[in-house]
Amino acid sequence: MKPSVRTPLPGPKAWALLERGERVLSPSYVRPYPFVPARGQGAFLEDVDGNLFLDFMSGIAVNTTGYAHPKVVEAVRAQAERFAHVCFSDFTHEPTLSLAERLVGKLGGGYRVFFGNSGTEGVEAAIKLVRYHTRRPYLLAFTGAFHGRSLGALSLTASKSAYRQGFAPFLPGVVHLPFPNPFRPPLGARPEEAGDAVLDHLEHLFQTVLPPEEVAALFLEPIQGEGGYVVPPPGFIPRLKEVLDRFGILLVADEVQTGAGRTGRFFALEHEGVQADVYVLAKGLASGYPISAVLFREELGSWPPGAHGTTFGGQAVAAAAAHATLDLLEGGLQENAARLGEFLLAELRALKRRFPFLGDVRGRGLMIGLDFGDPDHPQPDLRDKAVRLAFEKGLLLLPAGPSALRIAPPLVLTQEEAALGLEILEEVFRAL
Ligand SMILES: Cc1ncc(COP(=O)(O)O)c(C=O)c1O
Repeated sequence: MKPSVRTPLPGPKAWALLERGERVLSPSYVRPYPFVPARGQGAFLEDVDGNLFLDFMSGIAVNTTGYAHPKVVEAVRAQAERFAHVCFSDFTHEPTLSLAERLVGKLGGGYRVFFGNSGTEGVEAAIKLVRYHTRRPYLLAFTGAFHGRSLGALSLTASKSAYRQGFAPFLPGVVHLPFPNPFRPPLGARPEEAGDAVLDHLEHLFQTVLPPEEVAALFLEPIQGEGGYVVPPPGFIPRLKEVLDRFGILLVADEVQTGAGRTGRFFALEHEGVQADVYVLAKGLASGYPISAVLFREELGSWPPGAHGTTFGGQAVAAAAAHATLDLLEGGLQENAARLGEFLLAELRALKRRFPFLGDVRGRGLMIGLDFGDPDHPQPDLRDKAVRLAFEKGLLLLPAGPSALRIAPPLVLTQEEAALGLEILEEVFRAL
């Protein structure tokens, strides 16, 4: 299969739907470009006008197994014929129970699981869990972080002030640290000092305004997602964990975007040799069916029956889709993400040498960020133009952070499809 754009974009049928949307949909929805999907197969999506696109965005890093994978479709159909929902908060049932066992197995045991429907709900549950268990009032998070949009999760989110504007006041007691972005280091640090600078800043806060014994947890994306696909410097996360351990501060790994195999390991934290106290998974876990899982160390499970619950969380069809997704990840997709990620990173670094407006190429597995401009002069307009041009040439991308675009294809991507995407990207960069 090859991308093929045969109509002006948007085509006539897409126009008609977009116009109807203008009349009835919430103005808060974002439309980075006028794409209206009709159906998908593997790593390709067809729009309502019959144009065919190669997908390098996976519905924001969700569609692990691509579109309409027969094993996922079959698992969903089979479970839908039995039952979709009985309410897992009230009644134990398969396949959700065995999904919990399977996820705990990925951490080698010693954890328990709470299921929700979305990443935000997972983060919200994690906030409540760490507060309940520690009875400590403060939470730490990073600028550039995205943890969701409900008021608790939004209190942690700090990737764009537009997400927060108009919604204050937030949860009290949330303190943000600068993220050690090696490309645009905070606190006036040099790139190789970014991690040290942030850890020094944290110690300074502990000595001046923030009693560490009163901090419940730190929320961390092992690679920042919405914030620009930013990988922290090597060794930063293990050293951060040592600081947290000194004060009994829990580490919550928000693996909503990085988890479920996207970086070539099941949890991105595995690359760091660190185990978190709490993990939040969502997005890629069930190939597009809504589910989130909060995995927390057994000893944190002090909340009693009724302390937290949800009607739909752990719904059986989504759990069946998650099982099929895990089968496919274990059957080779996770390895594929690692292998193709290395290939794409190497090729994109070669492109960076030819196109000087590409300031940074970074990532792990199939979670790759391309930053436009240099550290002092981000070029968001050029990035936006690249996303639009790629769309016109049949490649679906998404922006991330102030001036990056993200490459997050489905994990079923083949070597040939990866090469095809690179060809289109090169054409786009030449046109810029
Ligand atoms: C790291 C991270 N956490 C939380 C969320 C929120 O997830 P959801 O949109 O499913 O509520 C996202 C969504 O982009 C995310 O990337």
